[in-house]
Amino acid sequence: MSKKLFIETLGCAMNVRDSEHMIAELNAHEGYELTSDASEADLIMINTCSVREKPVHKLFSELGVFNRLKKEGAKIGVTGCTASHLGKEIIKKAPYVNFVLGARNVSKITDVIHRDKAVEIDIDYDESQFAFKDFRTSGHKAYINISIGCDKQCTFCIVPKTRGEEISIPSDLIVAEAAKAAQNGVKEIFLLGQNVNNYGRRFSGEHDKVNFTELLRRVSAVEGVERIRFTSPHPLHMDDEFIEEFAKNPKICKSMHMPLQSGSTEILKAMKRGYSKEWFLNRVEKLRAMVPDVSISTDIIVAFPGESDEDFEHTMDVVRKVRFEQVFSFKYSPRPLTEAESFTNIIDSEIGSERLNTLQAYHDSILDDLKVTNLGKVVEVYFEELRNDGYVAGRSDNNIMIKVKGSEELLGQIVKVKITEVSRMVQYGEILA
Ligand code: 5AD
Ligand code: SF4
Repeated sequence: MSKKLFIETLGCAMNVRDSEHMIAELNAHEGYELTSDASEADLIMINTCSVREKPVHKLFSELGVFNRLKKEGAKIGVTGCTASHLGKEIIKKAPYVNFVLGARNVSKITDVIHRDKAVEIDIDYDESQFAFKDFRTSGHKAYINISIGCDKQCTFCIVPKTRGEEISIPSDLIVAEAAKAAQNGVKEIFLLGQNVNNYGRRFSGEHDKVNFTELLRRVSAVEGVERIRFTSPHPLHMDDEFIEEFAKNPKICKSMHMPLQSGSTEILKAMKRGYSKEWFLNRVEKLRAMVPDVSISTDIIVAFPGESDEDFEHTMDVVRKVRFEQVFSFKYSPRPLTEAESFTNIIDSEIGSERLNTLQAYHDSILDDLKVTNLGKVVEVYFEELRNDGYVAGRSDNNIMIKVKGSEELLGQIVKVKITEVSRMVQYGEILA
């Protein structure tokens, strides 16, 4: 009988891809098969995120639960960003944990499972050219890493300390991975990095100096690739050339993530984001002028240290002007190893919650307006997921989640759909013959 692996993945798309890499390595070299039942697993792993405090707190209670339900002799591993950040502390606090494997060390997975109490968390480790075995959760969408780590110094962010300095993956490896996915029937490529449009600044070894715009061109030339998405770009690096390629390349899906973080130039300075409110609005204006159908999503942090009512009002002003199609908003959470952790001008938690409510309620009203404008529109949907309620779900080019009545024949197809019913997050439609 094969050995069984249970893996829980928290955090961002980068973690999803890291999990896929670890699943592939464990399957190819150690014979593990996935299970969704932790109690029958021989190996239980949590691939963690440390970007905010709450999930880190939850980690230890969750580990306790896994330790109680695991079968005799099963191993428990902690991987990902919290593994990088807490290292051996995890084993001190939860001595039944068998190994700790940091982000950026995932290629060592087949080694650490055999070394009890192994802790591998080197953030300088270079696996940018490691030939991982193949595993994809979806047969329709392929996540492909284009860089690892992050060179930015945003004062709120722990990621440079968990994923290390940025190294780009050579473009020929990325193109080859896209080609292989396309040969397996995948139509959509999702390029991943902490700061994708900084791509090409540094490779390990001598490689063709390719920037992100050129990489987009090369991936879009791959036969069989019909859609390209990417996350996350940085507003600072959204130069004209990049926006123009985004606008005119028909394979690039017309949805852009533009992490604002704050609308106040003063707070942006304290966050070391490198751009002003005006630069951000100028980039949005250029984008919307060139791509009228673009949908723009963003990340916003409220109650960063020193954020006054006036600063928050600047954030609201940007939200009113841009009318983002999607907003991921968070109350500032002080993180260890970051510069802002030592800032003393902390904002009262209740004020933070109020600001978050104000922002989210206002954004809900934007969504209520936007959804009405979608009614009756005809969009192309790439169907990816069969739901058990008789619907098949997919996304439009500009990232609207759309469900239609249908069956599995629709999976993997790009089909014209008329939107007939709208809600804030999901829209319903009918297939046009
Ligand atoms: N507190 C709150 N939110 C944070 N993010 C990153 N660090 C913090 C923090 N310390 C948010 C940012 C980022 C998203 C992934 O998480 O908005 O874009
Ligand atoms: Fe979380 Fe950031 Fe690590 Fe992704 S890179 S798992 S968001 S801390």
